Amino acid sequence: MIPTLPLGTDGPQLPALGLGCMGMSEFYGETDDAQSLAVLARAHELGVRMFDTADMYGNGHNEELLARFLKEGGRDAFIATKFGVRRAPGEYARSIDNSPDYIRQACDASLRRLGRERIDLYYVHRIEAGRPIEEAMGALADLVRAGKIAHIGLSEVSADTLRRAHAVHPVAAVQSEYSLTTRDMEAEVMPACRELGVAFVAYSPLGRGLLSGALDGESLDKDDARRNFPRFAGNALDANLARIDRLRAIATKYDATPSQIALAWVLAKGVFAIPGTKRVTYLEQNMAATDVHLTADDLAELDRAYAPGSFTGDRYTAEGMKGIEA
Ligand SMILES: NC(=O)c1ccc[n+]([C@@H]2O[C@H](COP(=O)([O-])OP(=O)(O)OC[C@H]3O[C@@H](n4cnc5c(N)ncnc54)[C@H](OP(=O)(O)O)[C@@H]3O)[C@@H](O)[C@H]2O)c1
Repeated sequence: MIPTLPLGTDGPQLPALGLGCMGMSEFYGETDDAQSLAVLARAHELGVRMFDTADMYGNGHNEELLARFLKEGGRDAFIATKFGVRRAPGEYARSIDNSPDYIRQACDASLRRLGRERIDLYYVHRIEAGRPIEEAMGALADLVRAGKIAHIGLSEVSADTLRRAHAVHPVAAVQSEYSLTTRDMEAEVMPACRELGVAFVAYSPLGRGLLSGALDGESLDKDDARRNFPRFAGNALDANLARIDRLRAIATKYDATPSQIALAWVLAKGVFAIPGTKRVTYLEQNMAATDVHLTADDLAELDRAYAPGSFTGDRYTAEGMKGIEA
């Protein structure tokens, strides 16, 4: 059984382990729609309800893929999508747009691609520098009133932006990168979420695969976006992979995989996690992480061994850092 958590103060109670769908369309090498649809169906069968996408994943492809899954049986799935990152098809370069006009257009386009009348959770994917968050929240609150979105989320925001946004309209969830490789959110954002009753959703909970112990420089496709990320480049990747030994040792004690321990650690923090995968085998392994209950000693050992800031290299390139506040 996947444990459940409330999505903010007025949202539904949802299974804490969701599914990240990004890699099914872009960024992490080859994709295969038939295989991805099988992963989506199996996830639903195993009790996953939160499916995470964004309009820019594969330039709309990811939302259209989810629409196929929703039609084929995933009708009670809880769909979270995002707007705000504008990219030309196939280009990593982006601009950030949180203007009310663009929000309305982007929402209609996502609804059309998803084939739904309402988006369950609509996130501001990145924050536009120089534009007050109050403006975007006003437009999003209008979309709630119009019945086009049920809940509002923010991604990669500072605690200050969260507080300002929440004062305009309740924010249901903050989604930011969080894993043993990336613990920046523990300082201010996660405490602010707890204080305000906002759910925290950990994206890239496996450190984009680093914590699986199954990835190395050779296994990444030529066009895998991670090749350009500082943490995955050259010497930094070797240094980071060398740090997985402690995780492996703890995994052995539980007869588990490093990924399962990494996920069990995130879940033990009382937050949602949305690991991404294109494979049924990985999905099933990740779901079984809910059966791994780490002892207080092992949690403390992981906290110590993977202290904040202990991995080498930034998590994104300068382009990818656009609109990231926290
Ligand atoms: N809000 C944002 O700005 C933002 C940014 C990034 C991601 N996200 C969301 O978060 C989701 C998850 O993040 P992510 O996909 O970046 O990173 P992740 O979940 O940390 O890691 C995904 C990687 O780990 C591999 N993997 C998954 N399970 C595994 C297992 N059991 N054993 C070995 N390898 C395993 C996957 O391989 P395969 O692909 O080969 O299955 C993939 O390469 C995304 O899908 C997206 O929905 C949001």
